[in-house]
Order: sequence, then C-alpha cells, then structure tokens
Amino acid sequence: IHVLLICGGGGSEHDVSLRTADFIQRELASAPDIRLTRVTMDADGRLLDDQGQLQELRSDRLLYSATGSAQPVHYVIPSIHGYPGETGDLQSQLDILGLPYFGCGSEASKICFNKITTKLWLTALGIDNTPYQFLCANTPGEVAKARDALQKWGSVFVKASNQGSSVGCYKVSSEDALAEALQEAFALSPYVLVEKCLKVRELEVAAYTYEGELVITPPGEVCAPTDTFYSYEEKYAEGSRAQTHVVAEGLSEAQLGWIHEASKRAFVGLQLKDLSRIDFFLTDDGEIYLNEVNTFPGMTPISMFPKMLQNQGHDFSEYLAALIRGALG
Ligand code: ADP
Ligand code: DAL
Ligand code: MG
Repeated sequence: IHVLLICGGGGSEHDVSLRTADFIQRELASAPDIRLTRVTMDADGRLLDDQGQLQELRSDRLLYSATGSAQPVHYVIPSIHGYPGETGDLQSQLDILGLPYFGCGSEASKICFNKITTKLWLTALGIDNTPYQFLCANTPGEVAKARDALQKWGSVFVKASNQGSSVGCYKVSSEDALAEALQEAFALSPYVLVEKCLKVRELEVAAYTYEGELVITPPGEVCAPTDTFYSYEEKYAEGSRAQTHVVAEGLSEAQLGWIHEASKRAFVGLQLKDLSRIDFFLTDDGEIYLNEVNTFPGMTPISMFPKMLQNQGHDFSEYLAALIRGALG
C-alpha cells in the first residue's frame, strides 16, 4: 500500500504539522505492507520531497516526480494543522480524486476549524460552549460590541476565527490591549470572537474509531502556568512550563459522564471520522463548556492525543495501519 503523507501547508501551524508528520512517519515505519512517501506542502501549495524536488499528485491518482517517474497513490494522510488540511480544503481535493484519506471529511473539518461555526453547531447540538460575542470586519459598531463585552466580563479572550495552536488568541483585560488584540485578530481573519475569560481547568479527550467502534477516553488535563495561558510558546517552545496529565484527577462521576456524553454527541453530530481531540473547560464554579473540536489533533511530544490513545491500551501504529487497510479493503 503506497501512502502519501502530506505535511506543512500554508498556515501558521506549518512547523507543528511537520512534528506531527515525524510522529506518524515513525509509527508507520514498522508496518510491513505500507510504504510511505512524505512530501511537504510549501506556502504556494507545491509538494516537495525530502530533497526539495517537486512532486505532483494528479487526477489519475499518480504521484509524478520532477524526474518524470510516476507511482500510484492508494491513501493519503493530510498531516496539516490549519490551512489547507484541517480547514478541509485538501480533503475536498482528495474527494474529487476519489482517494481515501485519514481523518475527518471536508465539511466537518471546515465547520470545526472555524471557531464561530463550531460554536453555532455546538449550540445547535445542545452542547454548552463559552459565552462569546461575534465580530465581523468592516461592520459598524463592532468595536463598541467588544468594549461592552470587556466591561461585562472584566477580561476576555479575543480570537481570530481561523487559527489553531493559540495563534491569534489574546487574553485582554484593558481597553488599550483590546484595541491592539482586535487589530491583530482582524489581520488574520475577517471574523473574530470575544469570549468571556474563564478561570478554568483545561480537559481534553481523544475521540476516535477503533475497530469500527467509537472510543472516548477519559479526560486528560493540560495545565498552563498561572501567569499566562496555553499559548503557542507554552505548547511548543523549549522551556515551556505547561504540564500535561494523561488522566485528569479529581473529577466527579457526573462530570466524567457529562464530558463523555458531550464528546459523543459532538463526534456523531458533527459527522467526525477516524479521530479528533475534543477540548473542554471546567470552571471554578463547576460549569463545563466544550471549547473546541480538533479534527486533526497535534501529535507532537507535548500533544495529548497519542498519549491518551496509548493509555487506553491502543497502539497508534496498529490503529492507523488498520484504518488504512480498512479504507482500502
Ligand atoms: P486554539 O484553537 O488555537 O487552540 P483555543 O480556543 O483552544 O484556541 O484557545 C487557546 C488557549 O487559550 C486555551 O487552551 C486556553 O489556555 C486559553 N483560552 C481560550 N479561551 C479561553 C477562555 N474563554 N477562558 C480561559 N482561557 C481560555
Ligand atoms: N492545533 C494543534 C496542533 C492542536 O490542537 O493539537
Ligand atoms: Mg485549543
């Protein structure tokens, strides 16, 4: 089976995608029937191999190299956080080509990557999510709306709608900082959220299909240092002070049950496929909100998805190899 692993992409999470691809590549190295070709997508959408040679996946489902050779591709792993992988664009192209791929389909990806559509769907599915105000670029009155939100909630998170890994997320407690954050967020996206800043524990579950069954792990927990939040630096920079726990401690049966049910409802209601990591906030008052659904969760050394799978007794390489064989069977 010839699998094409596409990493990188044109978004702010290009480098994170490479780290996830490193993990996937290592995990598939031992599968005897799977041969992997890894290509990196650059900012112009070109696919380059390890030597920087151009590769092209054409409508005949052959991968053409710059030297003129061509080989059939049977399955694709879009290891791209953000555009154009987690945003569903690449998946649309693969659908048109008729090539099976790892992970969620185009529509679910698009809905979940956008922080605003995610909230609209969660609300439609009856799943509690963080209080927010929606702002649209070039619309009169939006700055006043943001100021009102800041006044009402004391501190807020300003978020560009179309980023991941905490890019475009700003914690704001003053009007000056608000103006700056809005400017930066609108530079990334025409749609911006102003969310109530909550004092929270951050809980994450892995939700994935294993041998045809939906598995939802117990929540793990990420703990950002108290003087900041789970920012890009705390996720990936050397010297990050964030800590992760594969299993969160001290949750009641009721809380575990709520998170399990909400995860299931989200996975089924959003028509997710193969994998996701679903992130929750547990407030000091005991309220639980679903924060976001990651259709292609990170698999970097700090990332929770592979750890939670392993803690469930599931071997990632067997899981992925079985999905690939199943999609082609
Ligand atoms: P991303 O999709 O980039 O991961 P998130 O919505 O998960 O964006 O926000 C990134 C981080 O910012 C969260 O992990 C959390 O640490 C912090 N955060 C986001 N929204 C809130 C909020 N409403 N209250 C408190 N912390 C928040
Ligand atoms: N967007 C990053 C990769 C994550 O949520 O894991
Ligand atoms: Mg997040």
